[in-house]
Amino acid sequence: MKRFDGKVALVTGAARGLGRVTAQAFAREGAKVVAADIDEAGGQATASLIRDEGGDALFIRADVGTESDVAALIDKTVEAYGRLDCAVNNAGVVRFAPLVEETAAGFDFHLHTNLRGVFYCMKHEIRQMLKNGGGAIVNQSSITGSLTGNPGESAYAATKGGVDGLTKSAALEVAKHHISINAIAACGIDAPGDVFHQWMEKEKITPEAAGKLFPIGRMGKADELTAAVLFLCSEQARFIVGHLLVVDGGWIAR
Ligand SMILES: NC(=O)c1ccc[n+]([C@@H]2O[C@H](COP(=O)([O-])OP(=O)(O)OC[C@H]3O[C@@H](n4cnc5c(N)ncnc54)[C@H](O)[C@@H]3O)[C@@H](O)[C@H]2O)c1
Repeated sequence: MKRFDGKVALVTGAARGLGRVTAQAFAREGAKVVAADIDEAGGQATASLIRDEGGDALFIRADVGTESDVAALIDKTVEAYGRLDCAVNNAGVVRFAPLVEETAAGFDFHLHTNLRGVFYCMKHEIRQMLKNGGGAIVNQSSITGSLTGNPGESAYAATKGGVDGLTKSAALEVAKHHISINAIAACGIDAPGDVFHQWMEKEKITPEAAGKLFPIGRMGKADELTAAVLFLCSEQARFIVGHLLVVDGGWIAR
């Protein structure tokens, strides 16, 4: 018997990076997985990778910042698998710009996916979870937001700080309905294609050199991130409400 047997898990931004490894981890633990993304080729590839390993997965194209897409995503999930038990709101974007050079369009670009996207997803996920008697939601936040700042990431940080606020308030609204809502603040996870890899490429820095920047002396492994996400989605974590769990190899503690 696997931990998520009989459960249905939705992961947004599942075409690559942290979303892909999270979708794969749910499937390995028995869940039926819906991988959602705007990147059709990457999302289909994630679903195929899961099916190749013997798992059950479906790709659904959805832009999380468009409410009609999110509503349709939840409807299609329920049509395909009958319910929704776990949702990981992972889709996120970042573009570096100093605040004085940031444009309204650049600010809205971050708001669209990172904050409005999490709002729409939680709204429609919670509605469905209330119908099926409970569930668990994990929002993929960041250490850059309410915990730290980072030069060139003002717009990104503003949206991630917003995610932390949304997480806590929404968690309190539904705690009595057997729906848990928490967030993860990750940094430096070794998941191919993720934003940290994009940063390493830009800086021409190897994973070994990047690892030395962390107090633990190495980058995080994908399964160290997914262990945290799946734990927060499990029955064992039901007493954890509105929490921001840091998974960063000691970056913040330093
Ligand atoms: N990688 C890290 O170290 C790290 C650190 C802190 C926070 N995060 C957060 O984790 C999440 C995943 O990060 P990642 O590094 O895997 O990023 P990534 O860029 O590799 O993947 C993000 C995915 O989201 C999808 N996406 C973008 N906009 C979308 C939209 N509007 N609707 C649906 N899908 C959309 C992309 O197509 C992509 O597949 C993000 O929210 C990011 O802010 C990552």
